[in-house]
Amino acid sequence: MSHLSRQRDGAGKSVHITTFGCQMNQHDSGIVAGLFKKSGYLTTDDIEDADVILFNTCCVRAHAEQRLYSRVSQLKPLKIRKPHLIIGVGGCVAQREKAALTDRFPFIDVVFGTNAVADVISLVERVEQGERPIIHVPEEGSAPSSELAATSDRLRIHAWVSVMRGCDNYCSYCVVPYVRGPQRSKPPDEILGNVRSLASKGVVEVTLLGQNVNSYGQDLDGGVSFSRLLEILNDVSGLLRVRFTTSHPKDISKELMEAMRDLPKVCEHLHLPVQSGSSRILERMNRAYTADEYVRKVDMLREIVPGISVTTDIIIGFPGESDDDFEQTRSLVERVQFDGAYIFKYSSRPGTAAEHFEGKVDEMIIAKRHKALLEFQKSISIRRLEALAGSDQCVLAEEYDTTREGRLTGRTRGHRVASFPGDGSQIGKEVSVHIARVSRWTLVGKGAEAL
Ligand code: 5AD
Ligand code: SF4
Repeated sequence: MSHLSRQRDGAGKSVHITTFGCQMNQHDSGIVAGLFKKSGYLTTDDIEDADVILFNTCCVRAHAEQRLYSRVSQLKPLKIRKPHLIIGVGGCVAQREKAALTDRFPFIDVVFGTNAVADVISLVERVEQGERPIIHVPEEGSAPSSELAATSDRLRIHAWVSVMRGCDNYCSYCVVPYVRGPQRSKPPDEILGNVRSLASKGVVEVTLLGQNVNSYGQDLDGGVSFSRLLEILNDVSGLLRVRFTTSHPKDISKELMEAMRDLPKVCEHLHLPVQSGSSRILERMNRAYTADEYVRKVDMLREIVPGISVTTDIIIGFPGESDDDFEQTRSLVERVQFDGAYIFKYSSRPGTAAEHFEGKVDEMIIAKRHKALLEFQKSISIRRLEALAGSDQCVLAEEYDTTREGRLTGRTRGHRVASFPGDGSQIGKEVSVHIARVSRWTLVGKGAEAL
């Protein structure tokens, strides 16, 4: 089939994509949306209207998986009314469940795995030609070029760039190494090519993505470290900002902290999941650091990069977590003073080591601890945000503020949202904003000056 005829194939049709889970999934969905757009499809928010309905799924916690199953089962009547509707499920649940998904929901047309994102259009075409169900879950796959992501509108200024896939860490609660496979870093030249090309199309901020970016390059010949990769990307002209996520405390190095200090484009924000403040629980989680080591690393980071914003992930109710372990987590949270935290209830995942650990924590106790820690962290987050009132912040203007007329919103280098007076000509540029106050988790700025 020629490129042109393929482009016409989707003309007049529309696709609806629902994304669950992490930024890697958001990134992959951006690529899928871009591929459909290239084929002539429109994206639609109205699921009833769509010709193709796709789910990009997550199995890190049971909750997202349950939501997926309930959303999919609701589609059955729609599929009966619209027999030509194509329903596809991709991502981590697809990778793990394979044909079990179509066994359970026979109206699903296509199941595509985490390594098959680049193939999604040809899979949909095969369904259109009458082949169904299709289960396409390769163990390996050509990682789709992150350049494709830029073809979707929302990602005009900012782009996700995956620098590696998979993970070798086997934290005892986590399903990622089983569904995403071992760590595979992309060669630095390829990443540089992606980022240069994005910058030439007007992208000014990239977020480098990987499950554990601190071990970037260890699986490549040539020994380029993550700090070196940042150094290379810092030189890309047109680019203003580089962010990255996620970091693992065991691998975070002084060299990386110094790179964050010295490289002007690398933003002062580190997402460093601690998971627990109890060294005993951390050991059971197979995290390979103690609570003290974690605190020392954050202290060192703040010394090297003053004012850096630090966020984290915490799991509540891991098997064996006692009142005392929880108190140690609370106390670490108080000591470290995170700018923000994602606090999750532990969810037992099939196939992980922790699935069979003893000491299951009662749901009521988990709920109580979860609520207490959320509230405690919220008070810290708001205090840290309010401490920025009166300061001048370098903000990247991203879009119009839909809740406040005559204003734009953007993010500080520390990844906080700011709203400030401005016009469309500033979008995509950095401006200096004087922060007057905080309202609903937003820094409200008085004036904005060009930088
Ligand atoms: N239960 C609860 N939270 C989990 N996470 C990963 N696996 C689980 C699980 N089984 C959380 C961790 C990780 C984040 C992406 O999701 O905190 O950092
Ligand atoms: Fe999961 Fe641990 Fe790998 Fe993160 S580092 S993806 S929590 S196994």
